[in-house]
Formats: sequence, C-alpha cells, structure tokens
Amino acid sequence: MNEREGFIWVDGEICPWREARLHVLTHGLHYASSVFEGERSYGGSVFELTRHTQRLIQSAALLDMKLPFSEQELNEATLAVLSANELKDAYIRPVVWRGSETISAAAPNNRIHMAIAAWDWPSYFNEQDRLNGIKIQTASWRRPPPECSPPQAKAASNYPITTLAKHAALKNGFQDALLLDWRGNVAEASAANIFFVAGEEIHTPTPDCFLNGITRQTVIALAQNMGFKVIEREISHAETLAFTECFLTGTASEITPVGAIDAVTYKPGSVTGWLTGAYADLVRSKNVSAIDMQFQAQLG
Ligand SMILES: Cc1ncc(COP(=O)(O)O)c(C=O)c1O
Repeated sequence: MNEREGFIWVDGEICPWREARLHVLTHGLHYASSVFEGERSYGGSVFELTRHTQRLIQSAALLDMKLPFSEQELNEATLAVLSANELKDAYIRPVVWRGSETISAAAPNNRIHMAIAAWDWPSYFNEQDRLNGIKIQTASWRRPPPECSPPQAKAASNYPITTLAKHAALKNGFQDALLLDWRGNVAEASAANIFFVAGEEIHTPTPDCFLNGITRQTVIALAQNMGFKVIEREISHAETLAFTECFLTGTASEITPVGAIDAVTYKPGSVTGWLTGAYADLVRSKNVSAIDMQFQAQLG
C-alpha cells in the first residue's frame, strides 16, 4: 500500500502518499496504542461520517488517547482527502497512534498522531464468491470477555486473533473466519458482524464482547422498517444448523451472503437480497441517518 500515487492527510496536512511515514520506535507499533476506522463514500458522500468520526474519538478515548482535532475538523479532513485524491466512491481509513517520544508501556505524554487515507476498493470479497455466498470457517481463536480488551474500541490490539483466524481459514479454502466468543457462542466474522434468517425473524448475536458495527445497526433498522422481527440474543454454535440464510455486515464488505459455515450450507435467499438492495439504496441516498430511521421505526 505504500507505493501509490495520491495524498494522505497526516496530522493536519495533506501530504504526498509516499511521504506518509513513521519512526520504527513508534509506541503504536510496539504496544498497539492505535485505533482506526473504516468508512465508505458513495458518489462523494461518506455514509454515516459523523458516527464513524464519533466512534474514532471514542475508540481513542477507550485507549486513553485524546485526539488533537475536533469532530468537525476530522469530518472536514475526510472530505479534503477525497477531494485531493479525486475520489467519489472510496474506502477511507483514518488511523490514530501514539508517537515515539518514549518507549515503554506507559507513555501518557507521547504525541497523539493521526492520518486519513482513501482509495478505490469496490469489493472486499471476490464478486463470484459473494454471489455464491462466501464460505466461512469457525476459528479456534475466540473473542475475549469484555474485561480483557475494550470490545467497542476499533483498536489494533483486537485484531491479531482476527489475522490468525483468517489466515487459517484462507489456507483451508474458506473466504473468511467465524469467531466464537469466550463462552463458545457465535460472535462475528473477522471484520464483519453476522446475521441469520429464520422465516420472518432475523437473529444476530448481542454485541457484548465484539464491535457493534455501524452497518449492523443500520441493517437492524432497515430490517425493522421492512417488517422483520430482529432478535439480538446469544446464539450457540450448534444453532447455526437451524437457519435458512446467513449474511455478514460491515462497512468494507457491506452485506455479504454466507454460503457455508464449515459443513453447514445456506442458500443466499430473498431476505438477504432485499436487505442488500435496501442497503445499496440507503448508502447512495444523501442525508439519511440510520439513527433517524430507527427513531422513525420506533414511532411506527
Ligand atoms: C471486528 C469487526 N467487527 C465488525 C465490523 C463491522 O463494523 P462496521 O459495520 O462499523 O464497519 C468491523 C469493521 O469495521 C470489524 O473490524
């Protein structure tokens, strides 16, 4: 990713892509004091920009880092990056890290840095795999209890088991990994939340030890608006047999049908199809907030 044309916003300045570098003694590199976001813009408008920026600020706060920029400055910087790179449909990656002034676990006075990059990344999974429904393999690694790592921080420190799980899945011919939580219940995929369909009901695990994704919250609101009953609950691994459809949600992967979890197969079906269409319409319509939609749904 380092050898590309374009511009990256670093600590308040737009700089040429190849010049966005850090020192090897960066605290974020040694002690994982780093948080990030994943956003998508559609036709030049970033879907749920404010919520992503707020989550970034919150993730940093959960790691005891205060960003030296306001929410509004960050929103403006994101749009400036899109404009500098002449991008309309793009994936956007803001990242925050503790700097290199001192190197030991505690580094409360190290400078907090931040960068925002954006590039063209139309599909997270191969299009054919997506059409068939991707195959995911249950990982041996599990999401830890919330007392062991802040699950609502989109923090680099939460991702090493994700990398290991996904490497193992890819080696075995799957396209993604399913992580269970420490109790053995279904948690999420490597970088996406998971949903199951049973008739008119949609079931999804309660996000008590993994990221409550912005796409997840959007899809819940969309499904409720469409008349589905959405049930958030503990889902045991054995129950994956009982559902007719399964799909993943995430900013990068959007809504992705699942064709198999290990040996259990699903047919990408009509519920996944309707939601995919509704999500595609929503992200391209300006000024629609999922929070507003949920509010409207509650009002009936
Ligand atoms: C571990 C993990 N879970 C879930 C998600 C989905 O979150 P969102 O819908 O906010 O992109 C992501 C992606 O950011 C992720 O990395």
